[in-house]
Amino acid sequence: MNFKGNLGNYKIIKTEDNTDTIYSEYFDEACHNLSGAYEETLHNYILGCAIPDYLNRNSNCSIFDVGFGVGVGLMALLDQYTKMPNYTSKMQYYSIELDETLLLWSLRNTLPNLKLEKKIIHDLTFYEGEFQNIGIKIFLGDGRITMPKAQSLDLLSPLDVIFQDAFSPKKNPMLWSVEWFSFLKSISRQGVLLSTYSSSVSIRKSLLSAGWTIENARGFAMKKSMTKAKLTGVSAPELIEQLQRSPSLEIRDK
Ligand SMILES: C[S@@+](CC[C@H](N)C(=O)[O-])C[C@H]1O[C@@H](n2cnc3c(N)ncnc32)[C@H](O)[C@@H]1O
Repeated sequence: MNFKGNLGNYKIIKTEDNTDTIYSEYFDEACHNLSGAYEETLHNYILGCAIPDYLNRNSNCSIFDVGFGVGVGLMALLDQYTKMPNYTSKMQYYSIELDETLLLWSLRNTLPNLKLEKKIIHDLTFYEGEFQNIGIKIFLGDGRITMPKAQSLDLLSPLDVIFQDAFSPKKNPMLWSVEWFSFLKSISRQGVLLSTYSSSVSIRKSLLSAGWTIENARGFAMKKSMTKAKLTGVSAPELIEQLQRSPSLEIRDK
């Protein structure tokens, strides 16, 4: 099955856990691991960022999902939230999406009960709504432009959690650069936790150059490793030595 978006065609693919992902013609890549879109999201982001612990502590939480895509990140977050009926604090969910057609397709198909309203403030377009205690804002356009604008308009609260889920660094380098990770640092709280499926040397070097500390973690399904990053602590010296031995460079905006 296919549909046409603003950035070319999308092919809908059933993954092994019976949830759907899409393959983007423009980025020439699928949004998820074909072993299971939902299971991958649970592993990399919901558990990777210790969301159940956060909710158990009942503290306010501000989450940024880098790339809305099919909306599986938000679906898994809402599922986790509804399993914890005693959670009463306010949560903020932010995301970005380049392709409005994809965003609307995903809201209709992945999150049919969620009603979001389209808003435009000072040239910034976003979809906004609420699900119980969760405030939701999805900014439309290139996140490198929309997120700084949202920040300057006071639409963001400092981030506690980042699901770094862009397409791969080779296909989508703009969201893996030193400049991007420096910006994420500037809009985060000191205790922020970032998690990503990628374990590439280049993205780890980008994170380090931007002032993050990194940690290796077990990847989903057949993937041996993934990366978690913080603004506190130190990176393991063996990991730093391993990166220094590789000729791959950090990613910089052109
Ligand atoms: C791997 S998919 C995200 C999957 C999503 N987290 C999910 O669970 O369904 C990456 C998404 O980021 C979007 N994207 C890529 N570059 C972007 C940019 N510069 N600004 C905003 N969105 C971008 C793509 O259009 C794509 O939908």
